[in-house]
Amino acid sequence: MSDALPTLSNNPTASGAPTAPVSAAGSGARIIAVTSGKGGVGKTFVSANLAAALTRRGQRVLVLDADLGLANLDVVLNLHPKITLHDVFTGEASLQDAIIQAPGGFSVLLAGLGMVEHSCLASEVRNQFLHVIQAITPNYDVVLLDTGAGISDVVLFSVSLASEVLIVATPEPTSLTDAYAAIKALAMQQKRQHVGMVINQAARPGDGRAITSQLQQVLDRFVSTDSGRAMRLMHMGDIPADPAVRDAVMRRQLLLLQTPGCAASLAIAQLANKIESTLLLPNA
Ligand SMILES: Nc1ncnc2c1ncn2[C@@H]1O[C@H](COP(=O)(O)OP(=O)(O)OP(=O)(O)O)[C@@H](O)[C@H]1O
Ligand SMILES: [Mg+2]
Repeated sequence: MSDALPTLSNNPTASGAPTAPVSAAGSGARIIAVTSGKGGVGKTFVSANLAAALTRRGQRVLVLDADLGLANLDVVLNLHPKITLHDVFTGEASLQDAIIQAPGGFSVLLAGLGMVEHSCLASEVRNQFLHVIQAITPNYDVVLLDTGAGISDVVLFSVSLASEVLIVATPEPTSLTDAYAAIKALAMQQKRQHVGMVINQAARPGDGRAITSQLQQVLDRFVSTDSGRAMRLMHMGDIPADPAVRDAVMRRQLLLLQTPGCAASLAIAQLANKIESTLLLPNA
């Protein structure tokens, strides 16, 4: 890690308390966390393919594998990095050396297996994460953080690095109750006012919009933010259940490259379009 990187003033504390988001305003890239309440709902699939779709639209994109401990973006993209963020944190490599090119034309920063030991996130590691984010944002238009699932301190910390949040959920009740818990944590602990919803493995068109409005009704009744304004969910898109997704994952290929015309690829392209035109920020 370069000593030249500036120190941020609003560093999270060593106590592990999740903090308000680090603002990306004026610093370059939009930083968007892709997170979920329940695991296995499609965050990594969405992050990787959304990155490819945004790249195709001319955006400079980096995906940061922020799923510390259970990182698997490298598996999905069939990457075999020699240098990871872990080597940057231990001072064995520079940040530039750890940024690699993915098949879809975007950049990737992988956490590396050594991050498991950092999964309790000492304050020094948190600081290093903040430095990394600050160092990369001037060079990109969009930085996607592929986070872990749930509302542990580690997950909430990686989400706190983002200025915008996308929650991935499937229509299953367990996924939706966990999504609700995650959204509530983001409203209460991070004072978020806007969250984007992506409903993955949707059975029918329109499912995601209905699910988002049901969740919104529950939030309106039971969750009030400090500002008194209700948390607003924005429906960003639905991705249908598509056998081509599993096939692409099995072949360790990007869906968008392998089957660009399949239903899920078209839905990801639409999601990229929507993200480009929608800022998930208060007053946006
Ligand atoms: N739209 C879809 N259609 C069919 N299968 C899907 C779809 N989206 C995801 N899957 C399947 O779900 C699996 C899990 O997806 P993924 O690894 O992206 O989830 P995740 O949320 O990142 O999981 P984790 O919480 O473990 O990080 C994929 O390997 C794929 O087989
Ligand atoms: Mg994942």
